[in-house]
Amino acid sequence: MNKVIAAVVAGVIIAICIGVGVWWYYSHSVAPAKSYASTPTGKEYLIVGTSPDFPPFEYVAKNGSIVGFDIDLIRLLAHKIGYKGIKIVSMDFDSLIPALLHGKIDVIAAGMSITPQREKVVAFTIPYWHADQAVLIRANSKWVPKSLEDLKGKTVGVETGTTGAEYIKKYASKLGINVKEYSSFVLAVQDLVNGRIDAVVLDSPVAKMFTSKYPVKIAFIIHTGEVYGFAVRKSDVKLLHALDQALKEVLNSTAYKKLVEKYFGG
Ligand code: ARG
Repeated sequence: MNKVIAAVVAGVIIAICIGVGVWWYYSHSVAPAKSYASTPTGKEYLIVGTSPDFPPFEYVAKNGSIVGFDIDLIRLLAHKIGYKGIKIVSMDFDSLIPALLHGKIDVIAAGMSITPQREKVVAFTIPYWHADQAVLIRANSKWVPKSLEDLKGKTVGVETGTTGAEYIKKYASKLGINVKEYSSFVLAVQDLVNGRIDAVVLDSPVAKMFTSKYPVKIAFIIHTGEVYGFAVRKSDVKLLHALDQALKEVLNSTAYKKLVEKYFGG
């Protein structure tokens, strides 16, 4: 009988020792370095291409860093799907799709409108914003166009490769509009302010933002009903699904509401 009790006591002691040992091992062993092979692109960072001349979506802050609504949003999504963070690559707007296709960047975050032409070459996430085109003129201008016809004989600035540029170019020769293309909206608006051109056509939320930064005003709106999405290579199916899933969740979150408030003031 004593032998049985001794065996049970020994068993219990051994079990306790094993338990303590296992606990000690797990609580003191260094957690293995997190592997990023599990991110949709197999990289630690999501490589984001943008064109920072489009406030408040993407612009250059006073300290030189690239910031904006798109930047914060894609960073949020990147963290959600397992990335350590984002790396931003800045370039002209019309270089973004070629850069994506050549693998220089993994996603475009640039207030890019989802269009059938672009959908032939890249894949877009679900939409996260909407916009129309606005016609911007100098704030002190006596000439206030009301429609495209009123732009006859005038010089209109656009950003190369944008939906606004394509729209105006379609009507330019028929309506006698001179189109001047710029690599950046900021340069176009500066030329407008300096009197070198008569108007700029650009996305309505951005036009609105420019009216608070430069002496310019919105003459009229062209209702194009565009929506913005993030663009990835068509072959990056995993990345697209992960971004879509994360975006769906984020769009209904308080973090998103805060983001809208931060850049659009509620
Ligand atoms: N939404 C317009 C387009 O897709 C203009 C976007 C311009 N974006 C920029 N970051 N400059 O063509």
